[in-house]
Amino acid sequence: MRLLVTGASGGLGSVLVSLALERGHEVYACARSEAKLQSCFAREKELYKEKLTLCLLDVTNAEQTQAVAQLVEENGAYLDGLVNCAAIMVEREKTIDTLDLEKVEESLRVNTLGPMRTTQRLLPFLRRGTRPVIVNISSEAGTIINAFPTNYAYSISKTALNMFSERLRESERENGILVYAVHPGWMRTNMGGCDAPADPRDIASGILDILERKKKIYSKIAFIDATGRPMPL
Ligand SMILES: NC(=O)c1ccc[n+]([C@@H]2O[C@H](COP(=O)([O-])OP(=O)(O)OC[C@H]3O[C@@H](n4cnc5c(N)ncnc54)[C@H](OP(=O)(O)O)[C@@H]3O)[C@@H](O)[C@H]2O)c1
Repeated sequence: MRLLVTGASGGLGSVLVSLALERGHEVYACARSEAKLQSCFAREKELYKEKLTLCLLDVTNAEQTQAVAQLVEENGAYLDGLVNCAAIMVEREKTIDTLDLEKVEESLRVNTLGPMRTTQRLLPFLRRGTRPVIVNISSEAGTIINAFPTNYAYSISKTALNMFSERLRESERENGILVYAVHPGWMRTNMGGCDAPADPRDIASGILDILERKKKIYSKIAFIDATGRPMPL
């Protein structure tokens, strides 16, 4: 498979890139820091050479998104999988009284419009891919019933991402593209902290199974967990 992963400079994104390479896939690893990309994947670049392409991509930046699309176009113009992983979590403990609405806007720009922009630009290449799958990394924080009491900015951005995923799933069905919004679980990453129960490597493995269409997924909705089970809304 030829996969593209955003937010690859750390956490789940970087683990996904490494594991995908181990499984024999070609990967475009995209991140907003050139330096982090180089340091994160120095070993993988040595090992996997041209199977790994490192791309500068801040998902809020339209020009960088276009440049990545151009690169994909020049290199065969197809993708078999896209993982929109980049995200931020800010203003977590704030109540509405003190919530910084600019931070809410920033969260929507990164967590919701970022995946939408990346998908919009790359969709023509996915339509030319083999058994293509789009995975938007979402969160239980985007559910109505299980969300953390505050966390406005993050929760709202992920609820909207779930709706984007559902709409896209419907509209791309006729093109044979599967679309999921995947809750990865509480993982030991910068965002999740060191007390989290899940190892991002186990989660990445589940997500790769979904991308490789190894799992039978019976969910009627796009929002699932990393084992393929439907999530509550
Ligand atoms: N960890 C959890 O427990 C948990 C639970 C549920 C859902 N999730 C979701 O899982 C995904 C991965 O999270 P994680 O735990 O791996 O978080 P993380 O360790 O904080 O990593 C997030 C990644 O996103 C990148 N990023 C942030 N803003 C970006 C932008 N504008 N453009 C491009 N990249 C950007 C970061 O880049 P920099 O290195 O440059 O900052 C970083 O590489 C996210 O979608 C998150 O919402 C995580």
